[in-house]
Amino acid sequence: MSLDVKAIRAQFPILQRKLDGKPLVYLDNAATTQKPQAVLDAIMSFYTTTNANVHRGAHALSDEATRLYENARNDVATFINANRREEVIWTAGTTEAINLVAKGLAQQLKAGDEVVVTEMEHHANLVTWQQACKVSGATLCVAPINNRGELDLDAYCGLLNEKTKLVAFPHVSNALGTVNPVKVMTARAKAVGAWVSVDGAQGIAHGGVDVQDIGCDFYAFSGHKLFGPTGTGVLWGRADVLETWPVWLTGGEMIADVTYQDATWGSLPNRLEAGTPNIAGVIGLGAAVNWFSALDLDAVQAHEKRLLARAHEHAESLSDMRIIGTATDKVGVMSFMLGHAHPADVGFILDRQGVAIRTGDNCAQPLMKKLGIPGTARASFSLYNTLEEVDILFDALRKAQMMLA
Ligand SMILES: Cc1ncc(COP(=O)(O)O)c(C=O)c1O
Repeated sequence: MSLDVKAIRAQFPILQRKLDGKPLVYLDNAATTQKPQAVLDAIMSFYTTTNANVHRGAHALSDEATRLYENARNDVATFINANRREEVIWTAGTTEAINLVAKGLAQQLKAGDEVVVTEMEHHANLVTWQQACKVSGATLCVAPINNRGELDLDAYCGLLNEKTKLVAFPHVSNALGTVNPVKVMTARAKAVGAWVSVDGAQGIAHGGVDVQDIGCDFYAFSGHKLFGPTGTGVLWGRADVLETWPVWLTGGEMIADVTYQDATWGSLPNRLEAGTPNIAGVIGLGAAVNWFSALDLDAVQAHEKRLLARAHEHAESLSDMRIIGTATDKVGVMSFMLGHAHPADVGFILDRQGVAIRTGDNCAQPLMKKLGIPGTARASFSLYNTLEEVDILFDALRKAQMMLA
């Protein structure tokens, strides 16, 4: 079945915007996605009719807010097929979720242990583990990629051994678009007894994610890349592991009993969620998950593949265009170089034509250094983009090519 893109676009007010009289062509979806009316309404409705703190008020509004807030947890748990709703921990985003994993495991990492990441990491999933290794004395091992930007699976497996404590990798690379074979990677890491933490920032919005099927221990993602609000995110973790973690933020909400001298901790998920949370954001994220999962996710994937195929077709006819990341299994992310032009100049010229893309190091400096480039221009497609918009992108790129020649 094909996706009714026109009907979907009508649900995103921002897509009706014009910039200098030109229709907005928003192709920066890997950075953040736009928000459908259902999400905007959920947030507005919360503040207009329900605003109250959760879990503490002895009044109707607080009960209502708590119900909406905890329903969002149920919806996310169902969406990713968590075993238990308590395994869904709210965070400010992927970065905070990964940092929470590092804090949770910090005391269990020691000199002699090994942590495996890949060459395609976003800084959030590299610097966090690099620093955790520095503090603990563990060794950071980096699994290489091939020249198409795919993980070298043999080399990855070669790094796994009885010293491997943790393996952390992206479900999908933000810079290259590569979809990693997460199930196989997880199974291999589990075979040597390692924990597996998946950076799902880019994986979450392209199809269904089933954390039990993947078999990992932790899966982190951001609400804003899934049509939800900024400042929201999820750490999903196996309850039996999360229960053993030390608390990381202390304060209200996360305690069981407090005296002047001591305190005991509440149970999951509260023990990892201190303080007043981003209530409206979480409710917005719940709305985003419900909006997204009501779509035909196979059709979403097929549509994104069509957009990428059209872009690759155009790219072949554009002399001097070099695509960075040509994995066989790829989402709608096209990083590229245009001749010797600096990506920032390409981005600037496109912006003048209403086309929004990302330029720069894609928060993956070591990867850019390995590839010997300063950064890339990156067009990233989402379910509301059209084939016509891909054509507009390439018209704009042809103009840029002429101007920069
Ligand atoms: C692969 C990947 N990991 C982690 C992050 C960090 O996400 P956030 O900034 O929402 O915490 C991003 C954001 O672009 C990403 O693409």
